[in-house]
Amino acid sequence: MQCSWKSMMLLVLASIAIQYTVIRTFSTKPLSLLYSVGLVPRSHAVNCSRKDLTKLGQGTAENSDRGCDEIRTPSSPASSSSSSSSFSFSSSFTANNRTHILILATTRSGSSFVGQLFNQHPEVFYLFEPLYHVQLALLPRLSQSRNLAERRVMLGAARELLRSLYHCQLSNLESYIRPRPSNHTTEKLFRRGASRSLCTPPVCEATLGKEAQNLVLTDEGECVKRCGLLNLTLAGDTCRAKQHSAIKTVRIPQISDLRALIEDPRLNLKVVQLVRDPRGILASRIETFRDTYRLWRLWRATGRRPHNLDLGQINTVCEDFLKSVSTSLARPAWLRGRYMLLRYEDLARFPLQKARELYSFLGLDLDHSVEEWIINNTRGSSDLSSRQKFTTVRDSAANAENWRLKLSFDMVLYTQTACQPLLELLGYKRVFHPRELRNLSHSLVEDRTFLPFL
Ligand SMILES: *[C@@H]1O[C@H](CO)[C@@H](O)[C@H](O)[C@H]1NC(C)=O
Ligand SMILES: *[C@@H]1O[C@H](CO)[C@@H](O)[C@H](O)[C@H]1NC(C)=O
Ligand SMILES: *[C@@H]1O[C@H](CO)[C@@H](O)[C@H](O)[C@H]1NC(C)=O
Ligand SMILES: *[C@@H]1O[C@H](CO)[C@@H](O)[C@H](O)[C@H]1NC(C)=O
Ligand SMILES: *[C@@H]1O[C@H](CO)[C@@H](O)[C@H](O)[C@H]1NC(C)=O
Ligand SMILES: *[C@@H]1O[C@H](CO)[C@@H](O)[C@H](O)[C@H]1NC(C)=O
Repeated sequence: MQCSWKSMMLLVLASIAIQYTVIRTFSTKPLSLLYSVGLVPRSHAVNCSRKDLTKLGQGTAENSDRGCDEIRTPSSPASSSSSSSSFSFSSSFTANNRTHILILATTRSGSSFVGQLFNQHPEVFYLFEPLYHVQLALLPRLSQSRNLAERRVMLGAARELLRSLYHCQLSNLESYIRPRPSNHTTEKLFRRGASRSLCTPPVCEATLGKEAQNLVLTDEGECVKRCGLLNLTLAGDTCRAKQHSAIKTVRIPQISDLRALIEDPRLNLKVVQLVRDPRGILASRIETFRDTYRLWRLWRATGRRPHNLDLGQINTVCEDFLKSVSTSLARPAWLRGRYMLLRYEDLARFPLQKARELYSFLGLDLDHSVEEWIINNTRGSSDLSSRQKFTTVRDSAANAENWRLKLSFDMVLYTQTACQPLLELLGYKRVFHPRELRNLSHSLVEDRTFLPFL
């Protein structure tokens, strides 16, 4: 039953991909094709008439594969400004000044921490890992799946969902949430509690005292418990009311997978790629994903590498990083002004400085609440000496090199050999002796400056 449902879903998606291509190519067929397969809820359907599509065609060729959401959504400022003068996507969109931020990361690379740098900003609508639902609905075992066709289907769906979410159409998420939301409400949004906007009024209707409000914002479980059903319509309204939006994901492998979104001038998408020493990622995953990384723990405990160990688990990380970083260092025109590389280790050492660089690249003001959050949650705030504080609340950034005490020397040797080109590219030093590995008084992180490509 499960199985056949999944294959149906895959078929449906494949057919959408084909129809999408048709639309892209001819730009004249109504998007209602998408509604006919039922993935785009009809009640929220954008009315994309032939006339609109003709308008769309007046943009550059790159625009022509886009929907008609801005044209018709009444609450979008873009539509009001476009009605007067002759229609142009880029001008109407930039008048809106909305920046869309994507944190491109992998698991255990510090992405929750980076996400917080946006989540804490009062003018940013932040979503934590919405693509979880796409993966769960389409390919529950994607991380294991090396099937190219499956990956492609999943990535196509992921891109389309990201586009909708940046346009605040949260209802498009509904097709992937299980059980299917009724009345546009759900209690099953993955990690809702990680998103401030979804735990504060108006989305969280619960009337809470100040103390309870703080609790809801610091404890994800409390948010889910006290805020009740999530009204996705209301969440979408809230998204539209904010100046910017940010999405964190570990489910897009490489920067090139985002090219279609980056090149969409209406989206004004900026990507922050977060990288981390793969040896650190490995050590952290071994602690966190105890089942999946069981054989690595066995290796560490016994000193002997199990013959059936899945080396792909770490090789894939290095391969994806290497391809993305090589692409971006080659500075292709499509990434100009749209890409910044951030090493987790640098953020750990200089959190405030790096946060400032990040916000400056994005062209956003670094809000006081973000600075305060950083100071509250890191030790490395020495660049704001007057307010230096050492809290035990959470010290996520302070332990970026802790992996050196957690992996066996063998495991380090294996990883740094498999990932050598990447380590060189990113400035992570290899070690050649266990003593060197454990001596934390010399860092393995070279000073490197990765300037945003402007
Ligand atoms: C879509 O447009 C058509 C023709 O302009 C109109 O008849 C129809 O009522 C519209 N539907 C919606 C949902 O706005
Ligand atoms: C957009 O930003 C520019 C420069 O940052 C500013 O001059 C302009 O007033 C802004 N427009 C809107 C609609 O906020
Ligand atoms: C949907 O909401 C309406 C009013 O908000 C309510 O009357 C109706 O019972 C709800 N339907 C379901 C399936 O929850
Ligand atoms: C969700 O919020 C919208 C907008 O405020 C409202 O119209 C709708 O009734 C709400 N839905 C439910 C089920 O409460
Ligand atoms: C920082 O910590 C102080 C004192 O614990 C607290 O009052 C404040 O709300 C915290 N701010 C943030 C943004 O976490
Ligand atoms: C650790 O490294 C530092 C700096 O490289 C060196 O001075 C020190 O002797 C080393 N300590 C040990 C125990 O090897």
